[in-house]
Order: sequence, then C-alpha cells, then structure tokens
Amino acid sequence: MIEVRPFEPDDLASLWALAHLPDAGVTEDPSVPVPLPPRRVPPTGPADLVDPQATVLAAGGDLFVAVDDAGHLVGVGGLRPVHGRPRLGRVIRLRVHPAVRRQGAGRRLMEALEDAARRRGLTDLLLDVGDHQPEALAFYRALGWSETWREAQPEAHWQTVWHHRSLERDHLAVEVRPCGSDDDAAAAERGLPTRGSDHHRSRWERQQTGEATYLLAWDGADVVGHVLLLDRSAYDEVVDDLGEHAEVHALVVADRVQRRGVATALLGAAAGVARERGASQVGLAIEPDADAATELCRRLGWRVRPGLHPVHTWSWRDEHGTEHEERDRCGYWTLTLPDGR
Ligand SMILES: CC(C)(COP(=O)(O)OP(=O)(O)OC[C@H]1O[C@@H](n2cnc3c(N)ncnc32)[C@H](O)[C@@H]1OP(=O)(O)O)[C@@H](O)C(=O)NCCC(=O)NCCS
Repeated sequence: MIEVRPFEPDDLASLWALAHLPDAGVTEDPSVPVPLPPRRVPPTGPADLVDPQATVLAAGGDLFVAVDDAGHLVGVGGLRPVHGRPRLGRVIRLRVHPAVRRQGAGRRLMEALEDAARRRGLTDLLLDVGDHQPEALAFYRALGWSETWREAQPEAHWQTVWHHRSLERDHLAVEVRPCGSDDDAAAAERGLPTRGSDHHRSRWERQQTGEATYLLAWDGADVVGHVLLLDRSAYDEVVDDLGEHAEVHALVVADRVQRRGVATALLGAAAGVARERGASQVGLAIEPDADAATELCRRLGWRVRPGLHPVHTWSWRDEHGTEHEERDRCGYWTLTLPDGR
C-alpha cells in the first residue's frame, strides 16, 4: 500500500535520487529497483527538488511524498502559489518511481495536493506537462483536468501542454483549442447558436486574417464555450490610456455547463496565447450587469481600471430575423501576465 505524507527534511537524499532518475516518456525504466540508493549530491535540477525547503515550502507552497509499505520514498508532488493570483495554485514536480506506477500513487499525491490547495483557500489549479510525456497526459485526462493550450518551446522538440482544474465546483473537463476549420465554426454554431448571425464564422475569419485567435472549449464533440482574443484592444479610449495590449471578447459558456470551470479554462487559454504572442497584459470590457463575469475576473486576479468605460456595440437577431444593435458602457479589467499564466 502506498501512502502520501508531507515532505520531511530527512527525505532529501531519497528525493534527490528520485529527481535524478530519468522518468518521462521513452526514458521511463520500470526495472530500476526500489529503494533507490540515497543521493548525497544534489541533482542538476529541478531547483524545486534540490532545495524544496527554500523554493517550495518557504514560498508558501506544499510538498508531499509517496512512500511504500517499507517506508521507501516512491513519489513526490508539490504545489506553489502563483504570483499576483491569490486564488490560483500551480502543481509542480509530480512524479512516481517507474517501478510502482499504475498503483494509485499519482492519484493519491494529487488528492493530497488538492486538499492542501483547498486549505490554502485556492479555487483553481494549473500545471504544465510536455507532450513527449504521454503517460502524464493520460494521467491528467483520467483525473479530469481540462487541457487549455499548447505552447511551442522554440528550444525543444516538444510542446508544453497547460492544464486547469477547478477545486470549488463540479469541474467539467474540457479541451480548449483554437478554431481550426469551417467544421469547427459549424460545431460552435450548433453548440451555441447565433440564430443566423454567423458570429462563429466571422470570428473564424478574423482568426484567418491573423488579428485574432478564436478559442473553443470542447466537451467531447460538443462546443460548450468560446472566447475571442484580439492582439489589440478594439477601443481607442483603452489604447490611449493603457497602450497596445491583447483583449478578450465574446466570452460565452453554454447555460447547461455554467459554473463548472469552463470560463476559467477559456480565460487561462486566452492569457497563455496572449503571452505567447508577446503581450504583457490582457484586457476585458465587462457590461454593467454581467455579475458572473465580474466575479470571475475578481477571483482570477484581474484588476478593474477605474475611469475606463469603453462603449461596447453589439448586435443580435430576434425570432423574426430583425437585427438589433445594442450599446453598453462597460467596466474595464486587465490581467498582468508576469509569466503569462
Ligand atoms: C504521471 C505519473 C505521475 C502518474 O503516476 P501513477 O502513480 O502511475 O498514476 P496512478 O496509478 O495514480 O494513475 C491514475 C490513473 O491515471 C491514468 N494513467 C496513469 N498512467 C497512465 C499511462 N501510462 N497510460 C494511460 N493511463 C494512465 C489511469 O487512468 C490511471 O488509473 P488506472 O491505473 O486505474 O487505469 C507517472 O506516470 C510519472 O511519474 N510520470 C513521469 C513524470 C511526469 O511525467 N510527471 C508529470 C509532469 S507534469
């Protein structure tokens, strides 16, 4: 039976041995014995496991280890706060000795991390994994995490795959990815009808011009939400005040899956794409009565910009096919992207 407990200083030499073990994707070797001989010199990386006391625990994070019946250390996983986002945590360094995989150690480590996150008052977790780690991708899929966006690593042959999970709600695992075809736009129209206004198609066309990214959240074959990320604010008044920056529009989640973390996954993906495209902040105009969006932004560490009230003009078509135009004086919120997440 594998158990999980908080890291103790006496674990350090065994932790270093585990950290030194090649363990991901094709390098995984289940014939490596347990226990690993303790390591007296630190591994070359990662820093979180070289000196977890300083880099994780003293930074307000948590570190757990998995131990087998004989007390040998066979797994580790950590949690770190995210700078500037009081309700968001980041799961780090989750790994299990290759000889004891598929025995539930990873799942138990994650449960301990989620409990610790809740105790710290966090509402959402994120993590990243390389797409050359198929076992980890399968693991996070099995545990119901949402895949939010894939980020190319110019120096490497793999991509970083970001994941999100809500802790407070009945989390729905979705996959967020840019609209990639007319068929995707048609699926968006089926999932979130715009009654002949063809908004999905026009956003997909904007993406093809290179000025925008239209992100769709998929629940299996169904589109259940979307957000449009512009490289530049659509409001002159905002550009005058804040300068050029990326901006989120058309954040919508289907009624039947609201309050299940889909908007958080979409905003996380939009922030990631914005950062990858060189933005240092992303903005969002929120209509006066949009309480849910306001609460969401507050929870995710967005900041209201007093004095900025861009006017959002939008149109909709009624059941008789008549087009209506609306104008809303909005509040304006921004998210700084220190490390883009
Ligand atoms: C990812 C990792 C931590 C999973 O640890 P684990 O102890 O084997 O995971 P669990 O036994 O708790 O698996 C839970 C579920 O995840 C899924 N899963 C885990 N590994 C899987 C694999 N290789 N293939 C398919 N599904 C997998 C399964 O659904 C599994 O349940 P099941 O065994 O009842 O079918 C481990 O593979 C590992 O250390 N990988 C290398 C390091 C790494 O990539 N870490 C993540 C970096 S972000």
